[in-house]
This record gives sequence, C-alpha cells and structure tokens, in this order.
Amino acid sequence: ARKVPRLDSSRVHASCSLSYPSTSQPPTRPAPFQRPRPLISFSYDTNRQLEFSEAAMRYYVSPPSGADLGHGYERWIRRPEERGRLDGLLRAISEIRKRGTDPVVSIVSWRGVMTKILTAPYEDRDGWELNVMAIRGTLYLEEFIDDARLKEKDNMTPRHRMQTYYGYAFESWCTASSPDVPSGWGGDVDTNVQWCSVVKTKLGDTRMVIGGEVDCVRDRYNGHNDAMLELKTSMAIRGHRDEMRFEKKLLKFYFQSFLLGVPEIVVGFRTPNGQLVTVQSYKTLEIPRLVRGKQDAWDPQICLSWGDRFLTWIKSNVEQPGNAAPGSVWRVKFTPCVGVELALLREEERREVEAGEDRVGFLPRWYYEEIQD
Ligand code: A3P
Ligand code: MG
Ligand code: MG
Repeated sequence: ARKVPRLDSSRVHASCSLSYPSTSQPPTRPAPFQRPRPLISFSYDTNRQLEFSEAAMRYYVSPPSGADLGHGYERWIRRPEERGRLDGLLRAISEIRKRGTDPVVSIVSWRGVMTKILTAPYEDRDGWELNVMAIRGTLYLEEFIDDARLKEKDNMTPRHRMQTYYGYAFESWCTASSPDVPSGWGGDVDTNVQWCSVVKTKLGDTRMVIGGEVDCVRDRYNGHNDAMLELKTSMAIRGHRDEMRFEKKLLKFYFQSFLLGVPEIVVGFRTPNGQLVTVQSYKTLEIPRLVRGKQDAWDPQICLSWGDRFLTWIKSNVEQPGNAAPGSVWRVKFTPCVGVELALLREEERREVEAGEDRVGFLPRWYYEEIQD
C-alpha cells in the first residue's frame, strides 16, 4: 500500500483542495453519463508502432476448461512500464480532425485515468497523481508516475509478475485472430500489441474523449462498441470473504468497461496457481444490481456525481484567467480517505514532466502546435 504524500506547499504557486466524498449518503447532484460512441480505433504492433487499423483486434473464443494460465510465461514479450503519456490518444484525435470531424471536447484522457477518478470514493488503499494541462477549453489529464514509482512497478516480485501474467495468458486462451478458430492457445503473449478504441461521451455537462484498450470482440466488428468484450481474471471464490473481495473488484471492472461502452465482461476464475476453473460472463450494465444491498456495496451514482464534481472543480480552477501561462502544468494528488489537492507546478517541476523530450508540458510539441491554429 502506497500513500501519496501531501503536496509540499513551499514548492507550488497556488493550491486548493476538494474534500473526500461521502459514500454513506446518496449523491448530492446526480450526473448523467452519455452512452459512449466510438470515433476511431487503432493498433499498436510488437514494435509499439501505431496504425489506424484493426490489425491488433482479436476475436473471442471460449477457453478450454482447466487451461494453464502459466503457459508460455518464459516467452512473454513484456512491454516495459512507461509514463502515462497521452501520445497515442493525441495521434487519434489529430487523425479524427484530419478526417473532417472536430469533436467539441472539454476532457481528453485514457480510460484508466477516468476509472481512477470515478472509483476514488471507494478507494482506501492506493493514491494517484495526475498532470493536467488546459488548452483552449480542453483539459488534458495524464497519470503522473515519478521515476521511483516507475522503477518499483518495473521490479515486481517474481510472484506478482506471474500473477500479472495470468491475466494476459487468459486473454490468449480466450482470443484468436479470426472468429472461427477452435479453442486453444491464441499465441504467445506480447504486451506491446494492443487494440484501442477512442470514444466520445459526456458526464454531466462535460464532454470527453476517452481512449482505452479493448481485449476482443464477439463474432464481428462493425465499428460499434456493442460487440466489444473485456476479459478479466480473478481468484476462484471459496467463501464469504472471497465473495466480498470480488464484489469490491467489480467496481473497477464495471467502470473500466462502462467508460468505453463495452457491454460484456468475461471473467476467468482461477486457482492461486493459475489454473482456470470457471468462466463467467457479466453484462456490464447489470453489475451494479449484483452488488446492491450487499455488505460493502458500492453505488455507481456516487462515483459519477463525484467525477462530475471533481472535473468541474479542476476546470474552474485551472481555467481562471491569469491563473497560469500557456503550457502550464498542474498536479492533482489523490490521497485515499482524505481528498484531492491541485497545484500549479513550478518551472523546474514542469521541466521534469517534459523529461528532456520534445514536449510542451506533457504534450508532444507537434500536437501542441497543431492545436494553436
Ligand atoms: P487481469 O485484469 O485479468 O488480472 P486488462 O484486464 O485491463 O485488460 O489488463 C490485462 C492484464 O494486465 C490484467 O489482467 C493484469 O494482469 C494486467 N494489469 C492490468 N492493469 C494492471 C495494473 N495496474 N497492475 C498490474 N497489472 C495490471
Ligand atoms: Mg485489456
Ligand atoms: Mg482485460
């Protein structure tokens, strides 16, 4: 468990905070969420080259029962941990504009960041930090992972690394490059390869463009998200405590898929040693009903209402005229059970964010320049 330290106020110009939401009361202001519509999809190949195609898209096939999720571990081509840069998503937004549509957007971010924001009211363990930039009415949000944390993520214990692999191996057992292939190993795991969907949606009054990886599709893909599937693994449930743990995890499964409009989640339950026991499919929109009224239940409305409040709060602070020069970077810190703080980074910290690369803040310079005209 890693707690985020409080912001060091001597190092920032301006800061403010937002208190933690209550999960024991109904949300103060309900926030409607618009059904996400896909705008474009793209693929990363084994060399992390991005192309606007469905080359990396996979089809769902039922996995063999008892499959070994440790299979192929020694052949895993592992993508190193990296900073949460928006580059791929910005390439997609640029491409959408080139194709003639310019979506009105107030937020641009990866789906993983939005999931962290929305599930914060129920997060009691892991803090997070974001970098934020505001340009011409649009907020860009990236996860900020400092060098120490990046190293820590890269140096997992062998046991943790194996458990992470089980999730990827499940994807391989469940997918193939064409829909009518018999069940079996779908090919060695290469975590460079990903298929991503970019959607537009709206939370409260905030229009957003969100990108995220999609694990596979059922049968046929026609540019809509209704055929998309999320794959997950979880420990087989043996008793009440396991059940509660799983229901807690469902909150993250739910929002991860909900945000992209992925309608179905296939969960592979496994033994501690990575043997697949059962597979169960969940309809994303029905998940909240499964936990309602249970001990430790969560309410998605609390998350949406909090997300709306959080985003509106950031926007109103970073967009105040005279509050920051163009290209400024803000930092948001979330501390579980406390709340969030926002501060404008000083020049030296802004340079740390640029990491010696050709960037303005965390945005690639080519993108920054493209949106100036
Ligand atoms: P599981 O989720 O089945 O454990 P995703 O489910 O988002 O498509 O991610 C695929 C797998 O990547 C996960 O499988 C997990 O093994 C690994 N993974 C994803 N996010 C992770 C994180 N924050 N830390 C460690 N592993 C992660
Ligand atoms: Mg995935
Ligand atoms: Mg998955």
